[in-house]
Amino acid sequence: MSISEQTRAELVELAGRYPVARSALLPMLHLVQSEEGYVSPEGIAACAATLGLSTAEVAAVSSFYTMYKRRPAGKHHIGVCTNTMCALLGGDAVWQAVSERAGAGHDEVSPDGLFDMERIECQAACTHAPVMTVDWEFFDQTTPEQAVAVLDQLAAGAEVVSTRGPVVRGFRAAERTISGIDDDGLTDEGGHADELMLATLRAAAERGIGPADGSAAATSGGPAA
Ligand code: FES
Repeated sequence: MSISEQTRAELVELAGRYPVARSALLPMLHLVQSEEGYVSPEGIAACAATLGLSTAEVAAVSSFYTMYKRRPAGKHHIGVCTNTMCALLGGDAVWQAVSERAGAGHDEVSPDGLFDMERIECQAACTHAPVMTVDWEFFDQTTPEQAVAVLDQLAAGAEVVSTRGPVVRGFRAAERTISGIDDDGLTDEGGHADELMLATLRAAAERGIGPADGSAAATSGGPAA
């Protein structure tokens, strides 16, 4: 594969959105990844040329963050959080089950090319632990059986809907959305803060250690943001 003219034009568009063009490098790397399935040497060169950076500078950034893949990714990225809260509530068992189902370990792609496996860090979703993500959509409070069933459905080509609402679309499509070049009409996809997310705020408010301004807005059950 190669970087298309459309993508090159979109890289320029992203760079133009920031007062300092190099601030666009992270979304640009996601855009490159959406086209080639990973941050390829050609993708690095395209970003460098757009921003007037050296390829070494771009490679240094892309190799620092685990969301940027340095070899072709699978069709779906499967992330299982095994940080503290998820681990306490069964994250390691979820990981073990899906890793065995996929036939691939951490940072490996399944032999059929479907699943890109990763033990991920805390997703700020501890209230819903243990969590699995598929193409960065959440599967909350999952069990080993439920998680394996998701992989089975994906392998069968079935439509898979995350527990927060959005449909799983594939790694490359998700990467294009993350780049910000086009939200594909998904800006308002998924729910807002739910009861579990608000529970700690409510408990804090009950104990008089809520928001410093005493506002009850954060515990009203309305949208979090
Ligand atoms: S520890 Fe898993 S989401 Fe925070």
